Amino acid sequence: MLKLQTIVASTRPGRAGLSIGAWFHDIATARKEYQAGLIDLKAVNLPMFDEPHHPRMRQYVHQHTKDWSATIDAADAFVFVMPEYNHGFTAPLKNALDYLSHEWADKPVGFVSYGGVSGGTRAVQLLNPVTGALGLVPAGEVNIPFFAQYRQDEAFQPPASFTDSANLMLDRIAKLGATLKAGRRELVAA
Ligand SMILES: Cc1cc2nc3c(=O)[nH]c(=O)nc-3n(C[C@H](O)[C@H](O)[C@H](O)COP(=O)(O)O)c2cc1C
Repeated sequence: MLKLQTIVASTRPGRAGLSIGAWFHDIATARKEYQAGLIDLKAVNLPMFDEPHHPRMRQYVHQHTKDWSATIDAADAFVFVMPEYNHGFTAPLKNALDYLSHEWADKPVGFVSYGGVSGGTRAVQLLNPVTGALGLVPAGEVNIPFFAQYRQDEAFQPPASFTDSANLMLDRIAKLGATLKAGRRELVAA
């Protein structure tokens, strides 16, 4: 069983991210390979990065960092549910990533991006070098253009083709996740 954390990357009042995150989390929860969790960066509420040491040293002085470290350390795979802000990724997501180092490494990451005509693809492109620097292994993306047409009240209800794409990505995350998890165990044992 892989522990998958879906992370909602937008924090503003009225954001679409929470409903899109809930949509994806429901799909993940229905799968037998995963113990699925949903993390809302607004609820995590990390301050702007405030640790004195490089995260690679794991000498965290703040309780919020120790808590965030434990949450990410315990996960085997991630999916970032992310909008595109000014052709880039959101500041809260970058901040949450920068807080840690080893906790992200050698784990698969998938992306559910959304936006206008771009479907958030430019944000994912820009995030790729960042996740790569942390040792996260890209495992696919679901891009949702003109997402607002699938939002009704607080629910996100896209056509079935998006659910199919999400499941394909989850197939790949499961395969990669199992391999990487075994590899991490070997590294610890060596
Ligand atoms: C600061 C800001 C910048 C945005 N820039 C883009 C953009 O570059 N491309 C795009 O497709 N949509 C852009 N949008 C529109 C967002 O796709 C839309 O507001 C979406 O709801 C944002 O996700 P959120 O509701 O989870 O915050 C932008 C929205 C905001 C608030």
